[in-house]
Amino acid sequence: MVLAKPKIYVTRQLFSEAIKIVEEVADVEIFEGENNPIPRDLLLKKARGIDGLIPLLTDRIDAELMDQADTLKVVSNYAVGYNNIDVDEATKRGIRVTNTPGVLTDTTADYAFALMMAISRRIAEADKYIRDGKWIHAWGPKMFTGGDVHGKTLGIVGMGRIGLAMVPRARGFNMGVIYYDCVRNLEKERELNLECRTLEDVLENSDFVSTHVPLTPETHHMIGEEQLRMMKPTAYLVNTSRGPVIDEEALYKALKEGWIAGAALDVHEKEPTDPDSPLLELDNIIVTPHIASASVETRTKMAVIAATNCAAVMRGEEPPNLVNPEVKKVKPLI
Ligand code: GLV
Ligand code: GLV
Repeated sequence: MVLAKPKIYVTRQLFSEAIKIVEEVADVEIFEGENNPIPRDLLLKKARGIDGLIPLLTDRIDAELMDQADTLKVVSNYAVGYNNIDVDEATKRGIRVTNTPGVLTDTTADYAFALMMAISRRIAEADKYIRDGKWIHAWGPKMFTGGDVHGKTLGIVGMGRIGLAMVPRARGFNMGVIYYDCVRNLEKERELNLECRTLEDVLENSDFVSTHVPLTPETHHMIGEEQLRMMKPTAYLVNTSRGPVIDEEALYKALKEGWIAGAALDVHEKEPTDPDSPLLELDNIIVTPHIASASVETRTKMAVIAATNCAAVMRGEEPPNLVNPEVKKVKPLI
């Protein structure tokens, strides 16, 4: 008996290296929208009869979608974060969920560090100043003075892979490092001579606070008004994790009223952000459109990993990056 080829749906054109991997094992259909997410109703329709789905972090993969996806075996997220997927629901239905950890760790840490430097040294603001034709006076001693990075204290909130990758970067700048995580990493504390503190202590004593937690019900608005008020008025907050980890309404007040010196956000409570968001009226904030992992090298590797995870399930093999190992292996489809 000849088995029908499995079907895989990909919600955005990915790098060709990745597409080749899934094409070896399945009939692959790709949503052709260049920069726009696949419309919800089309995604629901496309979910019917597919065996594998490779979505982006902007695609909500929930019970409603799984109701349509009666033959789905795997959701291979093109991201390390998977808060866009209802994993419990997938597990209940025997659908495997995979992500792309590891490859983006250093790229994301590079970017978080770049944001720390850019906000404290006012790089974006200064660039805009020249472009806006405002540099009409000569150089001045106090022009665009900001805060130093070297020698300061970095507070890392969430000591997972990316949080850990911040440590050597900070040490390279002769910074002190303290961290908070709900689970202590004793091995790394010993190996890297790290100090675990309470969240309150990290907020009170850091010159830079950088968040590296996944988005869960526990981390939603983990940095709100109370936490922002604990920070030093000279401190900077950097977020490259997920937008809702920070309460943006409270952050607006904090920046406007000078509870903290500045913030740099790569992720936002609402993405895309509203162009008329009040945060954008402020000078002491840098905003970028969720691009911390966006190096060509890393985005290509992420695509290859997502495709490899998906192809493994089609072959009845263990995918390398399984998020819900409780789900049993499926029979090979090819
Ligand atoms: C990006 O935010 C990711 O989770 O990979
Ligand atoms: C993500 O890769 C993390 O664990 O920090």
